[in-house]
Amino acid sequence: MDNTFYITTPIYYVNDVPHIGHAYTTVAADVLARFARLRGQHVFFLTGLDEHGQKVQQAAQKAGIDPQLYCDRLAPQFENLWKRLNISNDDFVRTTQPRHKIVVQKTLQSLYDKGEIYQSDYTGWYCTADERFWTEKDVQDGLCPDCKRPVERLSEKNYFFRMSAYQDWLVRYIADHPDFIKPPSRRNEVLGFLKQPLEDLSISRPKSRLSWGIELPFDRSYVTYVWFDALVNYISIPGYLTNESQFQTWWPANFHLIGKDILTTHSVYWPTMLRSLGLEPPKAIFAHGWWTVEGEKMSKSRGNVVDPNAMIDRFGVDAFRYFLLREVPFGQDGDFSKNAMVARINSDLANGLGNLLSRTLTMIDRYCDGVIPTSGQSVDQAQETLIRQHTEKLFADVGNALAIPEFHHSLQFCSWLMTLCDHYIETSTPWALAKQPNGKDKIATVLYHCSEALRHLSYVLYAFMPDTAVEMARQLGLSWDFSKPVELKWNDGTFPGTRIAKGRSLFPRIEGSTRSSTAAQTTIAPKLNKGEPRVTDQPMPIPHSSSTTVPPTPAVQQPNPTPPTVAPITIDDFMKIQLKTATVLTAERVPNSEKLIKLQVDLGTEKRQIVAGIGKKYDPDALLGKRIVIVANLQPRKLMGLESQGMVLAAGEANVEGLITVLEDVAPGIKVK
Ligand code: ME8
Ligand code: MG
Repeated sequence: MDNTFYITTPIYYVNDVPHIGHAYTTVAADVLARFARLRGQHVFFLTGLDEHGQKVQQAAQKAGIDPQLYCDRLAPQFENLWKRLNISNDDFVRTTQPRHKIVVQKTLQSLYDKGEIYQSDYTGWYCTADERFWTEKDVQDGLCPDCKRPVERLSEKNYFFRMSAYQDWLVRYIADHPDFIKPPSRRNEVLGFLKQPLEDLSISRPKSRLSWGIELPFDRSYVTYVWFDALVNYISIPGYLTNESQFQTWWPANFHLIGKDILTTHSVYWPTMLRSLGLEPPKAIFAHGWWTVEGEKMSKSRGNVVDPNAMIDRFGVDAFRYFLLREVPFGQDGDFSKNAMVARINSDLANGLGNLLSRTLTMIDRYCDGVIPTSGQSVDQAQETLIRQHTEKLFADVGNALAIPEFHHSLQFCSWLMTLCDHYIETSTPWALAKQPNGKDKIATVLYHCSEALRHLSYVLYAFMPDTAVEMARQLGLSWDFSKPVELKWNDGTFPGTRIAKGRSLFPRIEGSTRSSTAAQTTIAPKLNKGEPRVTDQPMPIPHSSSTTVPPTPAVQQPNPTPPTVAPITIDDFMKIQLKTATVLTAERVPNSEKLIKLQVDLGTEKRQIVAGIGKKYDPDALLGKRIVIVANLQPRKLMGLESQGMVLAAGEANVEGLITVLEDVAPGIKVK
């Protein structure tokens, strides 16, 4: 692992106030930056504003003020929002700053001197909105292929960057570096685009047409094309041509995080520009999906633009951050609705995380005099082992998912651990143990396991929900300085004896009028276990919220929480699950388990071990030679110490009623869809 980590967001146009789309990319980048710091890496996290070009000039004209003044007035809207969202950026670039403009001009001059930039006449179809020319074959019915607005025929002298010269190199580079453009669907899109001949790129605009830009150093009657200016921010700010040693520290960037709208500029223009400068391409570009709002495209004219400030006011910063990253698999498009947000907050944060912390600390106060206990006699070996294993690999699991990055998966690892802890509490019933002669020792074991899991969760969640993590750590009695990496170990001896400081509930349940049944169902308060101490804390008031927030009823999860109504998935979601036929080669019971059977299955090209909970239904011998269906791309996991490399499909709710098989005698390893 590198000890440095340089990550960027796009620099946003200052033609309007920031919205949820800008918040999305910036929060995502912040999580990666924070996680890298938790891992001990030196991080440079850069975001900022793209202030030149036609869009900004037009917006300023409309406002009737000078473009610079316009930018100066709008920039604080972004900076303040990032502060409110706890964005931990290390620098904030504005492309009108001299430190950036100087580098753009030096870069242009050196490329001009090397003959990489030349002047030529150009006639083409111009899209004013996108500020770019299109060729004859791109334009259909006189419309811009990108924004579908009418294009106009324009002829002018311009300066061109010899981008076409780098086409072959770029195709090869992308082919040789599978992780360069992510996710794979975007990589294919770029490779598809590169099947057409690449043209040279016009990098100038005559001042007569556009004056708001950086002057070309070799011809003062032109300004620089806004994309050539903007992309250079990724190298100008870390020190290209001004602070070489610092630049060497950070370049090549580890990550350019962008939306899918600006894939071509980042994965075609930018690497070829870098190549012509003799610089390495960034290590990875990830283009995420697009948010719509209640099923519609977000736009000013529709009046449905989601203001992140309003979301923070209503739901709190961390709930908003969590929702953005948990709700939609990163890379796919997503739909924003308040109902989805309420449902998510209630199920994962109020009933999930907040409740687990409250009930654990309430019981530590009640049964352990408010001090983290030392683990004692085992109550349920299997569950304790599972909790320990999941806790010990939590940081690595989350880190692996973030390397892709798959934010929703990384958060699922956290949820699983919480579910394990809740289930352990439900089944070990500390409140009943309290009445037994040796109960205290067992209660200590239960509460130690849960608080150790929470200690680890607090550390990991700092990347996602910094305020919440700090508050969790405080309530657990930890005096962590999150800016310094901590190496967490299970039972490292530092935790027992710590006095807890139970406080406000992390996430009050949100109730009130919601139209969707999904939200309504998940807001139902879980029933209280007989004998479990009541959680008596006061909810944290949500700043400036409306009267729809009420204090939560005592929050305790049901033993088997009913899953929230399942949201519809797309075919792409389904295709992510790799189902295959398999033949059972061997089957034997797992010692000390009624339920588990260890199978060896044949997948045609490989053999796998699967541990399946089908032992109450089947005798191992009855399974030999059977043709079954398995989930083949499930992350391996351990059950009672045995690795399970997949999952068998079976019908049944709580109990297995029958294994799934196929009608015809198909070979093992065949795809099932
Ligand atoms: O393109 N869903 O700036 P921009 C998801 N200045 N993400 C969204 C979104 C949505 N509905 N709307 C915006 C520019 N975004 C250039 C970039 S970089 C050298 C120059 C996010 O203000 C997403 O990250 O139009 C998208 O790529 C970016 O905002 C576009 O911001
Ligand atoms: Mg845009």
